[in-house]
Amino acid sequence: MGFLLLCFLSLLKPSSQQFPRACTPADNLMRKECCPAWSGDGSPCGELSGRGSCQDVSVSDAPNGPQFPLSGVDDREGWPSVFYTRTCHCAENFMGFNCADCRFGRFGINCTARRTSIRKNILELSGAEKDKFLAYLNLAKSTISQDYQIAVGTYTQMSNGSNPMFRDISVYDLFVWMHYYVSRDTLLGASRVWKDIDFAHEAPAFLPWHRAFLLLWENEIRKTAGDENFTIPYWDWRDLESCEVCTDEYLGGRHSTIPNLLSPASFFSYWQVICTRSEDYNNGNFLCDGTPEGPILRNPGHHDRTKTPNLPTSADVEFSLSLTEYETAPFDKFANFSFRNTLEGFANPNTGISNTSQSSLHNALHIYMNGSMSQVSGSANDPIFLLHHVFVDSIFEQWLRRHRPLQDIYPAMNTPIGHNRDYYMVPFIPIYRNIEFFLSSQELGYDYDYLTEPGKMHLQGETLAKFPYSTCLCSSSSKKEPGGLSIGRSLFRGR
Ligand SMILES: *[C@@H]1O[C@H](CO)[C@@H](O)[C@H](O)[C@H]1NC(C)=O
Ligand SMILES: *[C@@H]1O[C@H](CO)[C@@H](O)[C@H](O)[C@H]1NC(C)=O
Ligand SMILES: *[C@@H]1O[C@H](CO)[C@@H](O)[C@H](O)[C@H]1NC(C)=O
Ligand SMILES: *[C@@H]1O[C@H](CO)[C@@H](O)[C@H](O)[C@H]1NC(C)=O
Ligand SMILES: *[C@@H]1O[C@H](CO)[C@@H](O)[C@H](O)[C@H]1NC(C)=O
Ligand SMILES: *[C@@H]1O[C@H](CO)[C@@H](O)[C@H](O)[C@H]1NC(C)=O
Repeated sequence: MGFLLLCFLSLLKPSSQQFPRACTPADNLMRKECCPAWSGDGSPCGELSGRGSCQDVSVSDAPNGPQFPLSGVDDREGWPSVFYTRTCHCAENFMGFNCADCRFGRFGINCTARRTSIRKNILELSGAEKDKFLAYLNLAKSTISQDYQIAVGTYTQMSNGSNPMFRDISVYDLFVWMHYYVSRDTLLGASRVWKDIDFAHEAPAFLPWHRAFLLLWENEIRKTAGDENFTIPYWDWRDLESCEVCTDEYLGGRHSTIPNLLSPASFFSYWQVICTRSEDYNNGNFLCDGTPEGPILRNPGHHDRTKTPNLPTSADVEFSLSLTEYETAPFDKFANFSFRNTLEGFANPNTGISNTSQSSLHNALHIYMNGSMSQVSGSANDPIFLLHHVFVDSIFEQWLRRHRPLQDIYPAMNTPIGHNRDYYMVPFIPIYRNIEFFLSSQELGYDYDYLTEPGKMHLQGETLAKFPYSTCLCSSSSKKEPGGLSIGRSLFRGR
């Protein structure tokens, strides 16, 4: 079946998508400007057509927490200002580094149509839908991104922009690299590094960052496959005793003689990983450059059971959802009674008290896979990452619907660097603030099948469409329980 699908897919036009290729020449870096032309009218940011305009980036100066006591040493500080101080600012319905794309949830030539995309349970996809998903992943893994390149040197190594160091990358690996780049240690020269830094984990932006990451990844797969309706499925791992998607029909079974490899009957066994050798990069003072580093490793269930006794249960998820505070001081992996810290997996899922010697909920899955998934920097190499994080995002969505928070409960300052409300998310260009993804998925044009099925949720579809969730996020008077929203049924370890 894989072959047939690949033949079919090769007929589709592999279209365009972290650095926009159009912004990597020395000229752009020296001017610190990333405002490429929109092909529709040839003007920067599609300005002539009212799609957007080139504007100064205004970086938030809210103070960071004490976790990163340095400054002026990491290209990700004040993102994206080390590289660019002017980028496209897109109008209402538009998005993208040159405003060529529609905002999430908008479609059509002028991005005026609205549509909600539904993310489904992978085990409930039809055979054809499931094969299509797998084929799209393969296509993304083998298609060079037309729109983006990766940085293979720091700004200093690029002589402050006069000597650009960028490289082509496949659409799939672009996202593996971004996940590495956002979480990597700060290189301080020679083999010195600062490790207590991560712009997407162990702090409040964990959920909004991964929400944006998945939407962008989904969007690039859509463009690559020419299928505007594609959604990434999720894997509901609650209460399981084994990895039910670790079969050749889904994401690859176990190799018959080498337990931490995938079965040759799965084409994922032929994939090569990138960005897995953090210690080498740190010792050599260089960035991951996308060079293949061997096959995907996975050995589900052969992890250290004293740190992660079991896969997360429905009760663990339900407990995390009962926590009323999104985040608590000190806004990192030591936060007690923090929904974010509990769902991320640094707190006891029965009490909400931080315990960094255990890996629960989200972290538990990574540890359980006992391979590529288990180190933060390279975890997105294993496509299980996608299924897992989509399910984690659906739990975040349940929490938002249950507690209906005001946007200002998201901490504005004193969080670990990169996590304040208005910080621009590393390493995305176009630029997005953390807070822009701290809102209901319906505002972003997508939903989950199990959260929309009639009977499982009283306030549904039409009602939510009439009263967009943002209303609830902005006005405390509309704070109201949706009711009935209870659903049946180190990484990733303290550093
Ligand atoms: C899109 O917008 C342009 C410029 O406003 C207009 O000329 C065109 O008719 C619109 N197309 C559609 C399909 O709405
Ligand atoms: C890069 O910029 C820094 C800070 O402005 C400066 O100290 C350094 O000399 C510059 N390096 C090069 C190669 O231009
Ligand atoms: C996507 O779905 C919409 C609405 O169901 C449909 O009109 C459109 O043709 C679909 N697009 C593709 C490429 O299948
Ligand atoms: C796999 O689990 C063993 C303990 O069972 C542990 O020592 C090893 O570090 C784990 N490997 C990975 C890649 O997580
Ligand atoms: C979290 O709770 C534990 C147990 O009560 C306590 O020892 C610890 O100091 C608390 N941590 C924070 C950051 O408040
Ligand atoms: C944290 O987890 C470890 C390992 O399971 C356990 O031994 C320890 O008692 C826990 N600490 C607290 C404060 O609960």
